[in-house]
Amino acid sequence: MNFTPKLPDVGTTIFTVMSALAREHNAINLSQGFPDFACDPLLVELTHQYMQQGYNQYAPMAGLPALRERIAEKCALLYATHLDPDTEITITAGGTQALYTAISAFVHPTDEVIVFEPCYDSYLPAIRANGGIPIPIALQAPDFGIPWDEVRQRLSPRTRMIIINTPHNPSGTILTAKDLQQLDQLTADTDILVLSDEVYEHIIFDGQAHQSVLRYPNLRQRSLAVYSFGKTLHATGWKIGYCIAPPNLTREFRAIHQFLVFSVNTPLQYAIADYLSLPTRYTELPHFFERKRDLFLQLITGSRFTYQQARGSYFQFLDYSAISSMPDTEFARYLTQHIGVAAIPISVFYSQNKPQQSVLRFCFAKQDSTLHQAAECLMSL
Ligand SMILES: Cc1ncc(COP(=O)(O)O)c(C=O)c1O
Repeated sequence: MNFTPKLPDVGTTIFTVMSALAREHNAINLSQGFPDFACDPLLVELTHQYMQQGYNQYAPMAGLPALRERIAEKCALLYATHLDPDTEITITAGGTQALYTAISAFVHPTDEVIVFEPCYDSYLPAIRANGGIPIPIALQAPDFGIPWDEVRQRLSPRTRMIIINTPHNPSGTILTAKDLQQLDQLTADTDILVLSDEVYEHIIFDGQAHQSVLRYPNLRQRSLAVYSFGKTLHATGWKIGYCIAPPNLTREFRAIHQFLVFSVNTPLQYAIADYLSLPTRYTELPHFFERKRDLFLQLITGSRFTYQQARGSYFQFLDYSAISSMPDTEFARYLTQHIGVAAIPISVFYSQNKPQQSVLRFCFAKQDSTLHQAAECLMSL
């Protein structure tokens, strides 16, 4: 049979490969980004209750009104912005579906989309599957900041969208108010959209404030901001999130959304709506994960790994150049097979011009005991 693959270069992702290798070698898995601890039992109880009460049929296409209202309240509190739950918030099947839907709704064949590498692995395939052309720009090590002059040079009449991600996976960096102001200036008086991946909005450390596009009135008008309850509620397997965008963009977003999934898991939406009425459910998160970052780094103090400590997300880059000259994918395999810890090599987060950096990404969203065990292995290097 003849057919042309839409994504000819996509095979099994490194996350699947490393997790399988970790299982095979009984290694501690700090590769994939998910907690190895349970979500709040109250959430499970609430979901169970709603299932038992019969809330098991299709939810409204845009999402449960009560949940959208709680999200609007949360954003008013955090980002001092007024959102209309009816026209500006859509509940999605996780952050990934929101990202894909936003790209699919606005990127036409030959449109250019600026992405900053290293980046989350769904952006480029989503752009390509929709006929768009990714324009990758490398973040500047060691801080992984955005080179704004280069962005200015790479803008063209075909630039349709710029994708940003803060706090950042995989580097653990965050964008500052200055970055957002640069983005605002650069896109002013253009038709460029901003897709802002903010799934780690609550996982930010050292007293920093998350710089959401929602804080910036002009930027907000051209932005689709994406969030994930999987990250916020320690329940990545639930695949539920949302997209916030002004009404004209939300209309187009929903035009695709309704034919991609139509609507999202009903009992979870009821449960999360109840749960969010207690803001402490998410205000504890920065401290919770900052303590885990600090513990992990303290446990490897004295090792030959070097690092800039993560300022957000639940990922920590570690540089192993003082330990080995192996390329990063090889070293990641070695670490899994012989040292007993799985991590992700930095190079897989690049589509081109892969840097010759000796850096691996470790996920510290793990029980303290897991971090202790992993650190003990890493200290043996
Ligand atoms: C930067 C980033 N964006 C989006 C997602 C996807 O979120 P979800 O699991 O809700 O689809 C992830 C998950 O790892 C991520 O790291």
